[in-house]
Amino acid sequence: MRTQVGIVGGGPAGALLSHLLHLQGIESVVLELRNREEVETAVRAGVLEDATAELLRETGVGKRMDQKGAVHEGIELRFGGHGHRIDFADLTGGRKIVVYGQQEVVKDLYAARLSAGGKLIYEAAATGLQDLDTPQPKIRFRRGAKLDLDAGDIRFRDDTNEEEITCDFVVGADGFFGPCRSFIPDEVRKEHVRTYPFGWFGILVEGSPSTEELIYTLHERGFALVSTRSPEVQRLYFQCDPNDKVDNWPDERIWEEMQTRLATDDGWTLKEGRIFQKDLVQMRSFICEPMQHGRLFLAGDAAHIVPPTGAKGMNLAVSDVRVLVRGLIEFYSSGRTNLLESYSETCLRRVWKASRFSWWMTSMLHRFHDEDDFRYRLQLAELDYLASSRAASTSLAENYVGLPMEVITGVPAND
Ligand code: DHB
Repeated sequence: MRTQVGIVGGGPAGALLSHLLHLQGIESVVLELRNREEVETAVRAGVLEDATAELLRETGVGKRMDQKGAVHEGIELRFGGHGHRIDFADLTGGRKIVVYGQQEVVKDLYAARLSAGGKLIYEAAATGLQDLDTPQPKIRFRRGAKLDLDAGDIRFRDDTNEEEITCDFVVGADGFFGPCRSFIPDEVRKEHVRTYPFGWFGILVEGSPSTEELIYTLHERGFALVSTRSPEVQRLYFQCDPNDKVDNWPDERIWEEMQTRLATDDGWTLKEGRIFQKDLVQMRSFICEPMQHGRLFLAGDAAHIVPPTGAKGMNLAVSDVRVLVRGLIEFYSSGRTNLLESYSETCLRRVWKASRFSWWMTSMLHRFHDEDDFRYRLQLAELDYLASSRAASTSLAENYVGLPMEVITGVPAND
């Protein structure tokens, strides 16, 4: 098989890249390990920066988002039993976020790709990358793949053999656990890692929202977050032990914990409902430098992970793809490689800033139970400062709605 851009991974980064390339007349093939239903129903993050939402609209995949997503103009920070609103629209000149599930974004992208005749191969695992330092890199892959979660490896149906895609470029959009990153040689690859001493317990709940905007809470017992998915489905999280198990948390215990952490003195109540899904979210910061090697480019979680507190994960995947597409357009229209050469450098400036923001939100809003009270009191003081200072609130707001896109390095002055 031959294509222009071979993409490993059909999550938000891979699917968006394929869509944007198609709009420019550039052909791609996407390999996705899971089947379509698995990707479309996997519950992930749900906050889109305004530029992310705008990009989806501009490229014809924002219709359902505008119908079903919720535009939020602020968030609430809650601590000491009081809520304090951070008004994004006021602090950032009218910018907002859209709360719309990542799997819904992927669904919209798949629908667009499939109706345009796009080539998406599900249940296909990349088994190797070759010739990355030549103009004809190759992806080896095998169909009939299934991830065996218990064993932590991939099984294949017996009736499949290894196949090969010859491309001009290979994009590793295969997530944190995908194989592509390891094809950047050890001598040039530096991985920065920070783990946090807690995780998030997430639940999906049937029922109407308890709040119009997201609530981020710091309580003595730990962090809690009230988010939403739709007028009928609510998404709630609370800080838990990183090694906790879903089975340790029967519904009554979850509600008791959430009610305790979210209690206020202003009459607000958290609405309970039927919990129909429970999951554990890992908390990790990870950055791989560089994000490219020869004709291989990494995008999204394959290159970097942020803890979920700042809601940046999917937005970073989208900004990587934006930079990569510009580089590929430049290459296919002029043969120049300036933008592709500076891909990693351009992306990493934004990635580090978003990682800083996510680390900061995480550090401020969680209980570090093994540390003394001094740290906790500083966290409360920082929240108090945020709630009372327009300058501090503006810093949070401009990061949350999304910093401006990077100036792309390597663009000649007359471009
Ligand atoms: C959601 C996730 C986040 O990490 C966050 O900061 C806000 C909302 C969510 O899944 O809805």
